[in-house]
Amino acid sequence: MLEIVDVDLPGRAYQVRIGTGLLERAGAEIAPLLSRPKVAIITDETVAALHLDALRAGLAAEGIAADALSLPAGEATKAWGPLQHCVSWLLDQHVERGDIVIALGGGVIGDLAGFAAAILRRGVRFVQMPTSLLAQVDSSVGGKTGINASQGKNLIGAFHQPSLVLADIGVLGTLEPRDFLAGYGEVVKYGLLGDAAFFEWLETQGPSLAAGDMAARVEAVRWSVQMKADIVTRDEKEHGDRALLNLGHTFGHALEAATGYSDRLLHGEGVAIGCALAFELSSRLGLCAQEDPSRVRAHLKAMGMKTDIADIPGDLPDAEGLLHLMGQDKKVVQGTLRFILARGIGTAFITSDVPGEAVRGVLRDALAGRG
Ligand code: GLY
Repeated sequence: MLEIVDVDLPGRAYQVRIGTGLLERAGAEIAPLLSRPKVAIITDETVAALHLDALRAGLAAEGIAADALSLPAGEATKAWGPLQHCVSWLLDQHVERGDIVIALGGGVIGDLAGFAAAILRRGVRFVQMPTSLLAQVDSSVGGKTGINASQGKNLIGAFHQPSLVLADIGVLGTLEPRDFLAGYGEVVKYGLLGDAAFFEWLETQGPSLAAGDMAARVEAVRWSVQMKADIVTRDEKEHGDRALLNLGHTFGHALEAATGYSDRLLHGEGVAIGCALAFELSSRLGLCAQEDPSRVRAHLKAMGMKTDIADIPGDLPDAEGLLHLMGQDKKVVQGTLRFILARGIGTAFITSDVPGEAVRGVLRDALAGRG
């Protein structure tokens, strides 16, 4: 089972290869990129315990030597300290301009290792081997790399496209169900933003996909990655259409900030709730049918996902407080908040023209548990 999506960026084209057994075949997949049979792997301790031996064996099968650095798992690793550690380790391993760095892990490792590769010797190539659903459908594709700042998430970084992405669907079997479903929030986002047929497919296939159906998982990742590749090819540096990928993120980021980026709310859960709120807002503004937000919520609920603000445990700020947090979003341009709204399922668009009162109303009602 192997699907291939081409990311056709001029001069930086690469493939996303999606299937099973890719860890075991990593040597054969990566060998054509190498100038010498040696790679450096950046991973985290959790992923290393589960998958590093398989990757090493896959590389060794083609005679490729591998050094590996395992960093602590978690968002705190996306910071200056671990970046410095990572870059100096790569220099200690004598990684040269022509070598390849492998990022084996979820979004944190992909972003950190990609950024380390971007700045090491002014840029070495890297291969993304995403091990979470979220990383497979979103962060490993499109070249956004970086770390967090004390002022906010993802504020330091570079665009640095990978040379290859190997999305091994088999590794998703080791995810906790909650992490899998959080990643699924990003999958649903693709249907909602640009492809009603995909959303419809998810409505019927979602439950078997979550239960472990491998073919459905490969298809959902392929469909998502193809949509992301198309958008990134049109707008690599996010001057326009790429912002569509932020559907649900303006609300989502505010909720994540309000919960202190803790495990009260995972990123993908915030995105899912944010998508439902973006459709609610679109419907109240008369942009989409009233049935659309209910349909979005019905699917999230059917998947057993967090759907409404009321599903977030613990206290939250009031509507004004959340609105203030939305104002900290990095999509603020000249003081104006940009929203991704929708004219229907599969037709999202970017706008700055959203009355604050309408957003406040949606938040107030959501906080009061009224949808
Ligand atoms: N995760 C959004 C993007 O890659 O643009």
